[in-house]
Amino acid sequence: MRRKIVAGNWKMNTTPAEGKALIGELLSKIADVPAGVEVIVSTPFTHLVPAAEQLSGSRIALSAQNCANKESGAYTGEISAKMVAATGAQYVILGHSERREYYGETDAILLEKTKLALENGLAPIFCIGEKLEERESNIHFDVVKTQIEAVVCQLSSEELSKVVLAYEPVWAIGTGKTATSEQAQEMHAYIRSVLAVKFGKQAEEVAILYGGSAKPGNAPELFSQPDVDGGLIGGASLVADDFIAIAKSF
Ligand code: 13P
Repeated sequence: MRRKIVAGNWKMNTTPAEGKALIGELLSKIADVPAGVEVIVSTPFTHLVPAAEQLSGSRIALSAQNCANKESGAYTGEISAKMVAATGAQYVILGHSERREYYGETDAILLEKTKLALENGLAPIFCIGEKLEERESNIHFDVVKTQIEAVVCQLSSEELSKVVLAYEPVWAIGTGKTATSEQAQEMHAYIRSVLAVKFGKQAEEVAILYGGSAKPGNAPELFSQPDVDGGLIGGASLVADDFIAIAKSF
């Protein structure tokens, strides 16, 4: 049985006080979520230390949204994987399309980040996904394959066992245009087949989340697909009732 995971990516939203209130609300409702579902919240860096304290002893895990591709030193404005791990966060989102697109994060940079995250005991939630024009030109499978081969396939199988993947078609992120459950299933199965080339049967154990306009209304159908192991939720993760409803959708 693969893990079932629902992770909220808050992106650049909420002040620390608003984040504290949102976590408080999630904690008050988390008992409604079946025990087998892992729940993760990914807050801005500024919230990690208090969030780790607020979540300690609960079943909600904590994630950062990024970390540096350098270990330490003169990199003004950067936050290292070691610093993130020291906050008490257990996960870090890497390879999000917004980082790839707006901050020029290449596959090479993402491999460095992924390695550093793993060396520091953080579990990467590694995002992959094609843009609209890539799907329209029918190269979406090749794009995703390249993203996986450049980073995930460079890891050892022990490292892979710590990684969660998230398929986020860029055209579905924040657009209200969700992938159909068939499109999600087709790509998730393909991702598993790419992993299997290097990792064999271990590919069956990797949790692959879907992200892109996932909502309480569409999550049940998405999560019912055999290769969809949960969701990486943006906008709907900022509303406690919606996020909890999604986590109850398996
Ligand atoms: P939305 O759920 O807002 O479309 O965002 C998805 C996402 O990018 C999660 O990382």
